[in-house]
Amino acid sequence: MKFFVDTAMIDEIRELESTGLLDGVTTNPSLIKQSGRPFEEVLKEICKATKGPVSAEVVAVDHQTMLLEARQLATIAPNIAIKVPMTVDGLKTCKVLRDEGVMVNVTLCFSATQALLAAKVGASFISPFVGRLDDVSQDGMALIADIRLIYDNYGFETEILVASVRHPAHVLEAARIGADIATVPAAVLRKLFLHPLTDKGLKAFLRDWKASGNRILS
Ligand code: E4P
Repeated sequence: MKFFVDTAMIDEIRELESTGLLDGVTTNPSLIKQSGRPFEEVLKEICKATKGPVSAEVVAVDHQTMLLEARQLATIAPNIAIKVPMTVDGLKTCKVLRDEGVMVNVTLCFSATQALLAAKVGASFISPFVGRLDDVSQDGMALIADIRLIYDNYGFETEILVASVRHPAHVLEAARIGADIATVPAAVLRKLFLHPLTDKGLKAFLRDWKASGNRILS
């Protein structure tokens, strides 16, 4: 399973990149706003900081303008993946970009039939938002399971990029289902390292080692 980080904060991306665990980055207009930095400048830095796909979202809602925006964004770096919304215009744009060899992430997916359409136009990634579904008393993870089943039924190669991840249990369930990728906020990714028994066990080993009088390095 691949891990993307869902942020536009360059320090967080560099920190996670240094762990060797990072496979890509997703941004959206809200995350760009949070960074407080100019869009293109921040994307250039992110694309240099990671080799994996970096999602950059168009903001036009009509196909022709989306395409213009997408083509401009695609010049930033070869690892840019264009994020288009799950709309008719978004999918039309996806089809053209895929034919041009540009990676596309179809975002704001909330149903399995939307995911089916995105796969049919050759999306590289589909982003179902599990946390936002949970927020309205729907089962976000049930959607991931449905998409996995449908994509496997037909051999679609679109990668399931679990988005709107709120906690480690979302990551665990996504991995159980066999989602290809989870895009995770940095704070949630950091939590994946933690277990109180690891801390307790390490403390005991270090105490006993010290008492034994041994050394590894001379
Ligand atoms: C995905 O690409 C989106 O940027 C993101 O996961 C949305 O998450 P949110 O629902 O926490 O805003």
